[in-house]
Amino acid sequence: MLRIYFFISLMCLVRSDTDEACLSFTRLSFHSAVVGTKLDVKLMLFTRRNLTCAQAVNSTALGNLNVTKKTTFIVHGFRPTGSPPVWIGDLVEGLLFVEDMNVVVVDWNRGATTVLYNHASSKTREVAIFLKEFIDQMLAKGASYEDIYMIGVSLGAHISGFVGKMCNGQLGRITGLDPAGPLFNGKPPEDRLHPSDAQFVDVIHSDIDAMGYKEPLGNIDFYPNGGLDQPGCPKTILGGLQYFKCDHQRSMYLYLSSLRENCSITAYPCDSYRDYRNGKCVNCETSQKTSCPLLGYYADYWKDYLTEKDPPMTKAFFDTAEEKPFCIYHYFVDIITWNKNVRRGFITIKLTDKAGNTTESKIDHEPATFQKYHQVSLLARFNQDLDKVAAISLVFSTGSVVGPKYKLRILRMKLRSLAHPERPQLCRYDLVLLENTETVFQPILCPKLHM
Ligand SMILES: *[C@@H]1O[C@H](CO)[C@@H](O)[C@H](O)[C@H]1NC(C)=O
Ligand SMILES: *[C@@H]1O[C@H](CO)[C@@H](O)[C@H](O)[C@H]1NC(C)=O
Ligand SMILES: *[C@@H]1O[C@H](CO)[C@@H](O)[C@H](O)[C@H]1NC(C)=O
Ligand SMILES: *[C@@H]1O[C@H](CO)[C@@H](O)[C@H](O)[C@H]1NC(C)=O
Ligand SMILES: *[C@@H]1O[C@H](CO)[C@@H](O)[C@H](O)[C@H]1NC(C)=O
Repeated sequence: MLRIYFFISLMCLVRSDTDEACLSFTRLSFHSAVVGTKLDVKLMLFTRRNLTCAQAVNSTALGNLNVTKKTTFIVHGFRPTGSPPVWIGDLVEGLLFVEDMNVVVVDWNRGATTVLYNHASSKTREVAIFLKEFIDQMLAKGASYEDIYMIGVSLGAHISGFVGKMCNGQLGRITGLDPAGPLFNGKPPEDRLHPSDAQFVDVIHSDIDAMGYKEPLGNIDFYPNGGLDQPGCPKTILGGLQYFKCDHQRSMYLYLSSLRENCSITAYPCDSYRDYRNGKCVNCETSQKTSCPLLGYYADYWKDYLTEKDPPMTKAFFDTAEEKPFCIYHYFVDIITWNKNVRRGFITIKLTDKAGNTTESKIDHEPATFQKYHQVSLLARFNQDLDKVAAISLVFSTGSVVGPKYKLRILRMKLRSLAHPERPQLCRYDLVLLENTETVFQPILCPKLHM
């Protein structure tokens, strides 16, 4: 008996090391989407042993899954065309790049593939029950809830929430990437993702006016560019398929950026996007022990702070660039004017470094109000982080093309980096900006007194 057991074990070892077939994600045709598909969940295990070759696992065979390590589940959403999600490979590799863990891709393409969203949505509970069974086996083999992390995309975010509820909120973490809105908006906590579904729940909302969920669902809810329209995405239907999915998918690309890119996207806890744009919410460093939270994989560094609050929910806002790596760099432009009359208008600021690199920021979401001897602090957002600024250019505009050209008389302007408060602040005194005319100057270091 024992010998047979050893023989079988040996066979298995040999098999898994030599002719182990790689499992691939279910690929279906648009025809399948039209006729609809029956639910069939497959689990694909990826480890650092091979980033591209997945092993089939299930609740009776955990395969190479090492229960003493962290396990991240990736749960996709609605698949209206039947194709595999384009980001799967990048996400798997990115996760394994930052940490040695088990990555389990939950392939429920059979089930999610249908042109009818409500059909896909109706299968979410069943997928969750399947995952709960698998997790129970992991726990039985010695895994701990703490080490289980679920990344759910769109419908997958709610699936993760359902799994979390069945585990009584003990899962380590759930990340919701633009959780699905239609059929979930306004639902009670038991029917959607909720902050109590895991020890820490973080959410990115990138399409709140169409496919995404508008209201907060986690301990921290990130709203890139306010959560509505994402820069770089087509604004009209002429953009083709991208018009429908670009905003929704942006949440995934922002998350991926946190795994691979060197720029880390800082978000600013705030009541509204408008307040963030007006620079009212950028002082995490002074009001808290820690710095402002980062978006993505490392968002859980702020877990203790975010879950201590009552209720344990925070909204955070930030803007992004149009393309990878998406991060932008925030500066404050402090301006004191001495015009007799109040002036309202917009400032465009351009920075140039010694090598001739330039980067520009238009502060035009709403007019700034300049009042004699009052300091106005404008939040400027640049695509590049120029370390040594050699020249600054300013343009003042009231937005009107007719009528007299106004002047803005600046007593002092100051430029300070939010990301690098240790960098010297740059000043310039006594400037007159003629409306719509570029004024270029070399900044000087601000006297220490003003810092
Ligand atoms: C991963 O698996 C594939 C398919 O079996 C194989 O071709 C590749 O060499 C493997 N890579 C590594 C690093 O083992
Ligand atoms: C689980 O996986 C093993 C190994 O791949 C396979 O032999 C077995 O049939 C699977 N069980 C179920 C219930 O799918
Ligand atoms: C499982 O992971 C632990 C911790 O990383 C490691 O010490 C152990 O050797 C691993 N087991 C196997 C079978 O790889
Ligand atoms: C990130 O920075 C490291 C060193 O600082 C560099 O080697 C790497 O190429 C950078 N990666 C990206 C994506 O910019
Ligand atoms: C600045 O310009 C130099 C030379 O043109 C280039 O090598 C460098 O990458 C640029 N730096 C940034 C931050 O764009």
